[in-house]
Amino acid sequence: MKLTPRSSLGADVHDIDLRSISVREAQALKAAVYEHKLLVFHGVDLDEADYVAMARKFGVPQRYFQRHYHHPDFPQIFVSNNVPMGGNKVGVAGTGRMWHSDYQFFPEPLPLTFVMPKIVPSGGTRGTVFVDMVAALRDLPNDLRDAIVGTRCFHDAVYYYKVQPFDIDKGIGELMEEFHREAPGALHPTVIEHPVSGRQALYVSSGFTQRIDRVSHEQSRLLLTRLFEFLEDPARVHQATWEPGVLLFWDNRQLMHRATGQLHGQPSRSYRIGIYDGTPFYPGLPVTGENQP
Ligand SMILES: [Fe+2]
Repeated sequence: MKLTPRSSLGADVHDIDLRSISVREAQALKAAVYEHKLLVFHGVDLDEADYVAMARKFGVPQRYFQRHYHHPDFPQIFVSNNVPMGGNKVGVAGTGRMWHSDYQFFPEPLPLTFVMPKIVPSGGTRGTVFVDMVAALRDLPNDLRDAIVGTRCFHDAVYYYKVQPFDIDKGIGELMEEFHREAPGALHPTVIEHPVSGRQALYVSSGFTQRIDRVSHEQSRLLLTRLFEFLEDPARVHQATWEPGVLLFWDNRQLMHRATGQLHGQPSRSYRIGIYDGTPFYPGLPVTGENQP
């Protein structure tokens, strides 16, 4: 295996057969993703069963709370896709185009994410872009840092629910109620500590973060607007381009991300597997549900 840190963010990994890695090697790669925040594997050739088997060596693969995202044979695979499979609509098209951290709106967010592009549109700009939330906190203007340290933010994903064929004839209010029954939103610290490295990181995103808790509406809007402008400055944004044979693996505690570069109507498919790594998302947060070692 050859791991080469990028000059900007993350590291490239070559010469590794992910199909045959041991649990011990997976632990070493997990340590590498905590260190480098993003790993980009090259020369990857895994079918669905291989992919799920590999993911199990890193922790517990998530089953996304909405089943219509699931791969029909592998519920651990979250399918972002606009190309019919066996004549059927599978997965959801155009996911994750807003800045976010995966499952930020759940009481227990998702620690680690794999994304494997399966159908890559032409043009070479399809990919995932990232912002380093550790560096962002370090570089934040002092007055903004002082204003948000010690606060908590409320996160909600309802505004990104993608209406499905089975939703026809339902009202918007009904759809929102149904969504909130399963995912009512969650409060998390605005600055989180990494449970492994102790690094501090900002934990907000313009996609999911709705407000700062126990702060006036006006003050909350003002601070979040400043934070999002700071975070989304193009100088902070790093691209990982999708190409055949690439597999992305990142740490949601230290990065926010969004999907980018798909022109309307171009075919695209990617397979995501979320990993619960058996560690609290941040110190003090209970490890529950699927997130068991
Ligand atoms: Fe995502």
